[in-house]
Amino acid sequence: MTRVLVTGSAEGLGRLTAESLLAAGHEVVVHARNKERAAVLRALIDRGAGLAVGDLTDRDDVRRIAAELEDAETLEAVVHNAGVWSGRAVMPVNVVAPYLLTALLRSPRRLVYLSSGSHLGGHPSLRGVDWSGRSAGSYADSKLFVTTLAAAVARLRPDVSSNAVDPGWVPTRMGGPSAPDDLELGHRTQEWLAVSENGHALTTGGYWYHQQRRPPHRAVHDELFQDQLLGALAEETGVPL
Ligand SMILES: NC(=O)c1ccc[n+]([C@@H]2O[C@H](COP(=O)([O-])OP(=O)(O)OC[C@H]3O[C@@H](n4cnc5c(N)ncnc54)[C@H](OP(=O)(O)O)[C@@H]3O)[C@@H](O)[C@H]2O)c1
Repeated sequence: MTRVLVTGSAEGLGRLTAESLLAAGHEVVVHARNKERAAVLRALIDRGAGLAVGDLTDRDDVRRIAAELEDAETLEAVVHNAGVWSGRAVMPVNVVAPYLLTALLRSPRRLVYLSSGSHLGGHPSLRGVDWSGRSAGSYADSKLFVTTLAAAVARLRPDVSSNAVDPGWVPTRMGGPSAPDDLELGHRTQEWLAVSENGHALTTGGYWYHQQRRPPHRAVHDELFQDQLLGALAEETGVPL
């Protein structure tokens, strides 16, 4: 049994991930942005899930969530699932929050970051990136950055399994009703990487699609780019990895 935090589990892939992990007998901490959204998680909480509440665009909320989790029972895995497609929350939610949680939570040995095939169209440049969310961010760039973060963590924390997953274009609120890929397969890889002994023994530093390792954008394994990204996020948040 593994204790796993799934961010953004009120809906979509995060909720499906949390439901399957609970059904498989794992301890799950679900997460919602506020009390109103947490109400939709009642069924999972009644089945034993823990709850973390906080808006990932708010760095104080992210720090508080990390502090509460560090004080609670040891967390073994995190699925950094929460994400937004467009607008000012893109960089704060898709990149800064997973970075801060990774820097502040020291116990988890398995980290899974939701990437996207869109990351292949991202620009490997940090010039002018607005991490604070004062202006709209590029989804493709944010997914390139979070995929690079996953690879950097794999390099710098050899005792941690850190991987990025493209879930495919699946029919969630974000994916839309006509998304062509398989919703079930869209969350299996995250679960496998978060809890399976086999998955842990097999891999770190991967970019995965439906349990197959795929080549990511070439910047992802560029150590200079990784270090620049970590440096920018450390400077922005005041928290080094
Ligand atoms: N669906 C696809 O086709 C697809 C493809 C590639 C990658 N992905 C990635 O997969 C992940 C899950 O996507 P999805 O399709 O399940 O999206 P979704 O249905 O829109 O769900 C996103 C989840 O993230 C939460 N979230 C967003 N902003 C938040 C914030 N500021 N604070 C706390 N929680 C927040 C949402 O909470 P609320 O419900 O309260 O907004 C929701 O629970 C994302 O990282 C996405 O980029 C999805």
